[in-house]
Amino acid sequence: DKIYKVVFIRHGESIWNKENRFTGWTDVGLTENGVKEAHFAGQLLKQNQFGFDVAFTSVLTRAIMTYNSIATELNGHYVPVHKHWRLNERHYGALQGLNKAETAAKHGEAKVLEWRRSYDIPPPPLEDNDERHPKLDPRYAGLPQDVLPKTESLKLTVDRVLPFWYDQICPAILDGQRVIVAAHGNSLRAIVKHLSGMSDAEIIKYNIPTACPLVYEFDQNLKPLKNYYLLDEKTLKERMQAVANQGKAH
Ligand code: 3PG
Repeated sequence: DKIYKVVFIRHGESIWNKENRFTGWTDVGLTENGVKEAHFAGQLLKQNQFGFDVAFTSVLTRAIMTYNSIATELNGHYVPVHKHWRLNERHYGALQGLNKAETAAKHGEAKVLEWRRSYDIPPPPLEDNDERHPKLDPRYAGLPQDVLPKTESLKLTVDRVLPFWYDQICPAILDGQRVIVAAHGNSLRAIVKHLSGMSDAEIIKYNIPTACPLVYEFDQNLKPLKNYYLLDEKTLKERMQAVANQGKAH
């Protein structure tokens, strides 16, 4: 029987990951370390005989840059890339730009954990006239304004990611293409929650590490058979813990 696969990858360390700021739809680049992480991910994929026929990324620079580093390692710049806003990071509302540790010191770690990891509680929204509003960003011109978020819970992120997953990514996988999806901590948590059938309580504790290839294998009905990271357990745990620690007051 044929095994269908997809590789998910969160972008490498971004400038705001390093500064520990809520990022969401803010378009920041990768740090030097983040670029290294992305190249390392590409090398891991190569060593494990992965190659791709099609790539999907968000429209945010950090995911696109990460994919480009991987394509460089795989000599794969000829592969078609589809960039779509539905793979964007969860919109972090009015928290975007704030430092996570300072926010935890001010509002408490429990509140920050709720904003970061609860399933259905969205952070405070942007005002309509906020200069960070996505309607002012040319990359979303042409989209009806009511699809543009001013904040998103993970649940709202699931609602906007899944149509793209089913309409665009699933058909490519079922067509036998080798697919990579370069996206973000929370847009990938949204897909993984759905695929693994995680409960609302389980997903609170689940963190996606930066730039670690995550492989999902499916049967012909796209039922997930197994999933694994292409990274040793120790490094993986360290990177997941680093993400969890970002919400601590110090
Ligand atoms: C962000 O948007 O700040 C990060 O990409 C993910 O943040 P989180 O791990 O705090 O949800």
